[in-house]
Amino acid sequence: MARFFDAFSTDLGIDLGTCNTLIHVRGKGIVISEPSVVAVERGTKKVVAVGTEAKRMLNKTPGDIIAIQPLRDGVIADLETTEKMIRFFISKVIPRRWLVKPRMVIGVPTCITEVERRAVEESAYKAGAREVKVIEESLAAAIGANIPIFEPSGHMVCDIGGGTTEISVISLGGMVATNAIRLGGDEFDEAIIKHVRSVHNLIIGEQTAENLKMTIGNASPEKKIEKMEIKGTDAITGLPRRLEIDSVEVREALQEPIDAITEEIKRTLGQTPPELAADIVERGIVMTGGGSLLKGLPRLISKETGVPVILAENPMLCVANGAGAYFELTRDMAKNKKTIYNNLNT
Ligand SMILES: Nc1ncnc2c1ncn2[C@@H]1O[C@H](COP(=O)(O)OP(=O)(O)OP(=O)(O)O)[C@@H](O)[C@H]1O
Ligand SMILES: [Mg+2]
Repeated sequence: MARFFDAFSTDLGIDLGTCNTLIHVRGKGIVISEPSVVAVERGTKKVVAVGTEAKRMLNKTPGDIIAIQPLRDGVIADLETTEKMIRFFISKVIPRRWLVKPRMVIGVPTCITEVERRAVEESAYKAGAREVKVIEESLAAAIGANIPIFEPSGHMVCDIGGGTTEISVISLGGMVATNAIRLGGDEFDEAIIKHVRSVHNLIIGEQTAENLKMTIGNASPEKKIEKMEIKGTDAITGLPRRLEIDSVEVREALQEPIDAITEEIKRTLGQTPPELAADIVERGIVMTGGGSLLKGLPRLISKETGVPVILAENPMLCVANGAGAYFELTRDMAKNKKTIYNNLNT
């Protein structure tokens, strides 16, 4: 009976990211990709907007409405709002008339606590799941990056998200070594904000810093120096002001968080058993997550570690795609194993 349901049910793969939430539906691909932001009424905590609409309100809300990033810094900072957000996104994908409830695989940061993990699971059930599996973001990212995770060889995946960076060595479907740091693309933005304030006495917002990072940011020394004009508030006069900033300065501002990520990758390589490390040198480190899109970052990491680095195709979609493929992949794996052992025993 369970198999009958599996054949007709829909499988959802959910990337519950600190910056963005993505949902993959089997047979359809990514159907939701929205910022992990919820706008609520201050006193009543009533939800007024979720996702893209709520992000537009971030830092621009009037007094009675607050825009919350419930998963800020890679941890669930606000459990109640996280639950509401998950239920909202899922309800957008699941029509009420569906007879067979869907199965869901949710990719979450490795560093979340057991209580948070259970709360995520609970929200998915409340949103209408028949079966829920919560898996590590790294594992989902590796599947989504087409890494053959069940092979008996070592693969390293480095997922740089908004609030977290996870570096994992995977072999035979399990994590051999894993390190997660609460540092990602958001810290890149913060480093730019700090730099502009201390060097130019200019206060800029998070969205301006992110825009600067994506447009002229670079981790490796650039061939052509690029420039960009930004606007902010003068820290001394309090008046609005423009400033032209170049890519060399942005790279210098990003040095510290980038070094921290590189060090963590080196540390993980150091914890990897030699045979698996040899495989990684051969195959390269695979990078996923939006933070890995920073220009020149794969090149810099390769230079610093001496190991080839490959940027996955569509790095921001890997976790959702991998979570979406999880049930089928593990089922096929179990089937193959059964056939092999049955053949041996006959
Ligand atoms: N082209 C780009 N260049 C540099 N950074 C980028 C680019 N595109 C996206 N980013 C950054 O990627 C980050 C978001 O990535 P992603 O959606 O993978 O995070 P997340 O999965 O929500 O977070 P986490 O994995 O930490 O929970 C943001 O910090 C964003 O600024
Ligand atoms: Mg992520």
